[in-house]
Amino acid sequence: MKRNYIGLANSFHDSAIAIVSNDGEVLFAEASERYLQNKRSIGIAPDLYMRAIELVNQYCDPDADIVLASTWSSELMREALSQLKGVDVDGMIASDMTPTFIRRQLSGQQFFFKSQLSMLKQPGHLLEYSLAYSDTWSKKNVESRYYHHHKTHAAAGCYSSPFDNALCAVLDGMGELSSFACYHYVDGTITEIGEINKDSRASLGLFYTTICETCGFDPLSGEEWKVMGLASYGKHDPELYSIMRAMIIVDDLMLKNPEQEELTALSGRLFARRRKLEEPLIQYADLAYTAQQVFTEVLFEFLCNLHGTGLSENLVLSGGCALNSSANGKIIENTPFENLHVYSAPGDDGNAVGAALLAFNQDNKNPSPARFMSPYLGSTMKQKSLDNVLQFSGLKTTRCGDEAPKLAANMLQQGKIIGWIQGRAEFGPRALGNRSILADPRSADVKEKINASVKFREEFRPFAPSILHEYGSEYFEHYQESPYMERTLTFKESVMNKVPGVVHEDRTGRLQTVKHEWNPKYYDLISSFYQLTNIPLVLNTSFNVMGKPISHSVEDALAVFFTSGLDALFIDGIMIEK
Ligand SMILES: [Fe+2]
Repeated sequence: MKRNYIGLANSFHDSAIAIVSNDGEVLFAEASERYLQNKRSIGIAPDLYMRAIELVNQYCDPDADIVLASTWSSELMREALSQLKGVDVDGMIASDMTPTFIRRQLSGQQFFFKSQLSMLKQPGHLLEYSLAYSDTWSKKNVESRYYHHHKTHAAAGCYSSPFDNALCAVLDGMGELSSFACYHYVDGTITEIGEINKDSRASLGLFYTTICETCGFDPLSGEEWKVMGLASYGKHDPELYSIMRAMIIVDDLMLKNPEQEELTALSGRLFARRRKLEEPLIQYADLAYTAQQVFTEVLFEFLCNLHGTGLSENLVLSGGCALNSSANGKIIENTPFENLHVYSAPGDDGNAVGAALLAFNQDNKNPSPARFMSPYLGSTMKQKSLDNVLQFSGLKTTRCGDEAPKLAANMLQQGKIIGWIQGRAEFGPRALGNRSILADPRSADVKEKINASVKFREEFRPFAPSILHEYGSEYFEHYQESPYMERTLTFKESVMNKVPGVVHEDRTGRLQTVKHEWNPKYYDLISSFYQLTNIPLVLNTSFNVMGKPISHSVEDALAVFFTSGLDALFIDGIMIEK
């Protein structure tokens, strides 16, 4: 019997849905935030009513049964919740005797557990309801399966990797009973190394969350990026270092906290350095820098221990901590691993793909071989909406067809800032040339211009380069391929003055490697820009304004275009000008 596998990332943040074919191909993957245009879709189930059945009708085979694969094993989660029983959390939060920083931490944990429990109660129920009322699907078997949270992270990373043998580290905020897990991946099989549900609440992800809050940012809004951006302006602070380095201990393949009394004292000292919102951000650059330093040290120590198992020279890194592109870029130089793979969606959204592929592999003894997985798995722009723009909007539009990359490159060379939308949306947080805002990297002023008039965000936020693979070694020290903009590397001193628009304060850039076979039109655009300027890279930032997800529809894109300083917008070969 044929089966389609629907992966549901049902964490209370970054929910997502993925659909995998009977042959193991990922047909579709998208975070709910895109369709809803609600950043990170906090507290929202992935099987959005109406939307999920629309996707099933579009991508599933009417002759196939359906497997719903969820990204939390509900029994373990209930066990975690039961551990809280007997602890008077509400009373401790309400008590004046509890220090403020402890109250904040408890409130955060309570919010996490309560939100997660409500999501666990009904993974896929809305979709099952929709299927039951459908003429096509009501007679099909619908089976629900539940997978360990960390294993779905591992699956997304391992199955998308080019490796047939790898070690995999999952480092997360919190998943089931711990924040970390290690696996050995061999020819489609993912096996735990050691005990997976270790008795530890230590978490490198939650450490970064704490730093994010200490800097005055909001981690639930996904502002951890800002810590990374700010870190480049700071320097080592010995006092902060001694506090933070003592908060997490690496012990073989475990993370541990110090004794509770010591941890409380350290947290108190850190909380005393918390930014008051009226204080200038830049004063906290040293905190961000030192925290990033501690994060990378802990990460490298853990990864060196993992390599010590001797099972592979290839590393797959997954979980929320794998979104730290700055640390990712330093792994090959600072650990014995020879190769690194980080999926385009290593966070919880990616687990939709992980769960669906685990379900597929459970049913198929000979899984499809490892290969590069395209990140272009999301929705397209609706042709009908584009036709309406052409026919009714009265806007200045031009059908450019195959000439679009050349025309776009020409505009960039003239200093214009353009929106570039084509084909299917990227899966994961990065715009990789299909939902992007592009600019000429040769101007130093372009950063300020885009932050002030297009993205409306802080002046310290950096911009990333998309570079033709052939020129990677010419521009970056210790160049590594970075297909998903997942790692940050250092620009060579000899080229940094050529492209100041994409060189961050510490001479780094979070690059996207572009190859023709991965994205031919985007490759052509950058090649055309190179022919005009002798520069093989462009500035690429995601097509959104601060606080909003990447645009999902033609209507979303036009709203950004007309409420920002963008000069032109290309959507699937149609150019719209102001
Ligand atoms: Fe996770």
